[in-house]
Amino acid sequence: MNPKFHIQLHTPCLPPDWATHAKYPNRNDIQALENLWQDGFGLPHPVALHSGTAALHLALRILGIGNGDRVLIPTHTYVATAAPLQYERAIPVLVDSEPETLNMSPEYAEKAIRTLAARGQKPKAMIVVHLYGLAARINDLKDLARRCDILLIEDAAESVGTTAGGQLTGSFGQAGIWSFNINKIFSGLGGGALLLQDRDQAARARKLAAHAREDKPYFYHKETGYNYGMHPLAAPLIRAQMKDFDNIIDRKRRLHEIYKQALADLPLTPIDEGPGTRSNYWLNAFLLPGGTSGKNFVGFMQARGIEVRHFWFPLHRMELFSGCEYWGKNESEKFFERGFLLPSSPCLTDAQIEQITGAVSTFFGA
Ligand SMILES: Cc1ncc(COP(=O)(O)O)c(C=O)c1O
Repeated sequence: MNPKFHIQLHTPCLPPDWATHAKYPNRNDIQALENLWQDGFGLPHPVALHSGTAALHLALRILGIGNGDRVLIPTHTYVATAAPLQYERAIPVLVDSEPETLNMSPEYAEKAIRTLAARGQKPKAMIVVHLYGLAARINDLKDLARRCDILLIEDAAESVGTTAGGQLTGSFGQAGIWSFNINKIFSGLGGGALLLQDRDQAARARKLAAHAREDKPYFYHKETGYNYGMHPLAAPLIRAQMKDFDNIIDRKRRLHEIYKQALADLPLTPIDEGPGTRSNYWLNAFLLPGGTSGKNFVGFMQARGIEVRHFWFPLHRMELFSGCEYWGKNESEKFFERGFLLPSSPCLTDAQIEQITGAVSTFFGA
């Protein structure tokens, strides 16, 4: 979080008695959190971890994705979707966005898979991201993964609680991940989850996350693991917030409606949830009219102490990914030029919301 803004993009909404939730944290808190995900959210084999990035890394390890394997990811995403592929020397294949949800286009993805397969370079997996809490066209992408016989991983870091056809994002593929970092809706001030379908895979993930310690009365190791376990303080905090799930998601969805109504007369396009999906509206995304500079708008809002952000910068335009293949037609670049994200904390006060919408109106001279 950036202290130079008096209204931040997203602050966690910790329960008022949060300190008591974390009074004597211990490993039972982690078990209790995993039980809540299993019993309350219907997830078969969730594993609490240190971060969403760690969860993605373990997903790759568990599913056997590594050196030289090609993996489709959206070019419009946070770098954390791609970094674990680089840790494992897998090869990211960058796929452009579709206009409805800003997420990975099933059409470009299919073109990429078929062309690469014809070259003898068939991808092993795709990682679908649900950006800003908006569900991707997950059923189309799942169908594509099935038809092409590739693994499906969901990066649901930003979409905890978002559903498609009533099913939680993160639960459609062989693995999914959630993030509970400081700017997420349900925050442990750090934390993540790996959502698996298979009990043995979950046991393997837990072992790898604890430096691959063998089941012996002393510390003994046969392979290299990681220190990826969830911080015990995070678990009771996340659990307390997730027990208030409906209320928090309702507040997020109400804020989206308030923004839409307050800004309805301005030449802005809100990005709404797609048909059959229910967004957590982690961040409220809008498009500026063509010809209006996103840079000027974001600068204008930030100069007023309001943390408005650009969309994620397309990965294929970054030096770090200059060696990666890219499939698309610059859609994500156009979205980057025109897109912005409004402060979206569920704890925003009415006065703060008015300040934000007032400043947006002022920019447009309204
Ligand atoms: C799309 C996306 N993937 C992965 C992550 C990584 O999560 P974490 O910060 O918990 O490592 C984040 C967020 O931070 C994210 O926005």
